Amino acid sequence: MSVFSEILHNWYTTNARDLPWRRTSDPYFIWLSEIILQQTRVDQGLDYYLRFVNRFPDIRSLAQANEDEVLHYWQGLGYYSRARNLHEAAKSMNGCFPTIYNKVLELKGVGPYTAAAICSIAYGMPYAVVDGNVYRVLSRYFDIKTPIDSTEGKREFAEWAQSLLDKDHPGEYNQAIMDFGAIQCTPAMPRCHDCPLSNSCLALAKNKVNQLPVKNHKTKTSARYFNYLLIRTSKTLWLHKRTDKDIWHNLYELPLIETPQQLDALQLLEDESFHLLTTAIGSQVQLSHIEKVKHVLSHRIIYADFYLLEIKETTIQLPVHYFPIPIAEWRNYAMPQLVYRFLEKNAVPK
Ligand code: ADE
Repeated sequence: MSVFSEILHNWYTTNARDLPWRRTSDPYFIWLSEIILQQTRVDQGLDYYLRFVNRFPDIRSLAQANEDEVLHYWQGLGYYSRARNLHEAAKSMNGCFPTIYNKVLELKGVGPYTAAAICSIAYGMPYAVVDGNVYRVLSRYFDIKTPIDSTEGKREFAEWAQSLLDKDHPGEYNQAIMDFGAIQCTPAMPRCHDCPLSNSCLALAKNKVNQLPVKNHKTKTSARYFNYLLIRTSKTLWLHKRTDKDIWHNLYELPLIETPQQLDALQLLEDESFHLLTTAIGSQVQLSHIEKVKHVLSHRIIYADFYLLEIKETTIQLPVHYFPIPIAEWRNYAMPQLVYRFLEKNAVPK
């Protein structure tokens, strides 16, 4: 084993985080934990993991659930395609988790990173993971300047990772390097002062820890403008299921008018989509602006304006994709956090 891998191994024996999915070799639990941890920090994902396995303790229970419920258990974690893919993959397994790397890789939502993590941790197979932690640790320790988002960089880092892997304990090694990246060699303010690799770290010797890893392209963010309408009588409010191929697919939300720019209330009243939506309400329309929220996602910023539209009649017919629910039941629907937080404060008439 290389000096790097040996020091890493020693570090892990005293610094490993005690996590529930580390006390099992059941691939179902390891798969679930890896899907959660793809875009979520351990401290945020832990509670979700515990609730999820409590409700769906095995492949069959997940496969038999309906998608609304699975999404509900994911509510607040973001990247909801992870939950939809988990559900679809569970349905494809026939109760048995695949045991061959290529079959694991074929599961919906599983790419090379997740397949390597599952197969090394659950089955002890010699596949090295390459995630953001691995890019950071290796680029700094070995002073690798190839951009991590280039084809060349991806290949080069995968080769480094695979050559350093402890083939006798691949699962432990993979988790060690990820924990090391999360705890010791952090993106900002890494703990070089008490790092066991500091004597041989090339980036530290060259005083360039903060310049690595190199990334070519900045993540582009685009803005979207959402005008949400809380259409409500004393007992009812209207919801809508997002069925288009777009963010938050199959989650529920309030009736929405998306516009190319941010509008104020007067401009919204003039908007054609607003008219189409509210003709059924007719002369009753009383629009009040409740809240403005800036909701930042990984590739998007959503500027949301929330309006209250209080009406008297429940007999109005909104377009078919909007449906009324008793106000008291709004929590039964899986929603984006943005809408959930608004309804927590505003669903019930004051
Ligand atoms: N990040 C993703 N998967 C992980 C794991 N198994 N251990 C530590 N960090 C991780």
